[in-house]
Amino acid sequence: MTENTLASRLEQYQAAVNRALEHWLPAAGQQPEHLHQAMRYAVLGDGKRIRPVLVYAAGAAFDVGIEQLSGPACAVEMIHAYSLIHDDLPAMDDDDLRRGRPTCHRQFDEATAILAGDALQALAFQVLAEDPDIHVDAGQRLAMIQRLASASGSEGMAGGQAIDLDSVGKQISLPELEKMHLYKTGALIRASVELGGLCSPDIQPRELQALSDYARCIGLAFQVQDDILDIESDTETLGKPQGSDQARNKPTYPNLLGMDKAKQTARELHDRAISSLGDFDDKANTLREIAGYIVNRIK
Ligand code: IPE
Ligand code: IPE
Ligand code: MG
Ligand code: MG
Ligand code: MG
Repeated sequence: MTENTLASRLEQYQAAVNRALEHWLPAAGQQPEHLHQAMRYAVLGDGKRIRPVLVYAAGAAFDVGIEQLSGPACAVEMIHAYSLIHDDLPAMDDDDLRRGRPTCHRQFDEATAILAGDALQALAFQVLAEDPDIHVDAGQRLAMIQRLASASGSEGMAGGQAIDLDSVGKQISLPELEKMHLYKTGALIRASVELGGLCSPDIQPRELQALSDYARCIGLAFQVQDDILDIESDTETLGKPQGSDQARNKPTYPNLLGMDKAKQTARELHDRAISSLGDFDDKANTLREIAGYIVNRIK
């Protein structure tokens, strides 16, 4: 009998997206070689693949098969990898370590890293537009493209990164911090869950709304936990420099609220995420378990 633990499902989903990423990414030997090598280096590194996992888990809640979800799973991971490449650049967080290896601009050079991010962003949308294994009508495919675009832009990830950089060294309010986290990290996590749902040809608006409410909570919780781990974990476990936020004077949940309140916030967000899925049956159990994983993770 095959195991049916969260760990075994995560492994199954990670393996599926890794295969699909290998399929969509240009070969390392293809011209321009440096650019393609940098794209592959950033994407194929040892990440948790939590956003693809959320695409698969949301699709599973509607009985959508893995092969129909792999294109959207690749698209969200490509946007994420692009955001990490740019986040680590000297003009942004100026970090040297990512996923246990030198950051992309350290391994290659800054110009190549910027272009690898640009090209990954474009490839993400190409996959959503082209993938023949997405079995929904054109209108629903367009809705997927629209949600990923708005989650990536100035009212999503890029906007959150702008607020993050503007806030360095400043005391910002809790609503401002929440907005920054919802934009820079929450939006892409929310889009990941929504895209998984939108792979179901007959998803109902209220089901999509419930998924979206769930995802808003876990997206915010994910960044709260990232802030906590920046203080409580270590560089080797994280695969990125521990203490980077403090070194750069970033506003974070533990800084603003204290560690106990930050942890309490994460737990409350977890509980709200679970109640948002109240009308879903057992097929949403992986989504429920991922909410727990997000607030208990150690890396
Ligand atoms: C790190 O994301 C950046 C944030 C948005 C907090 P992850 O913690 O998902 O990084 P990987 O993909 O596992 O490397
Ligand atoms: C990054 O937030 C969010 C992104 C959009 C990449 P952080 O700057 O906290 O992410 P890490 O800690 O470097 O992974
Ligand atoms: Mg940052
Ligand atoms: Mg950073
Ligand atoms: Mg961080």
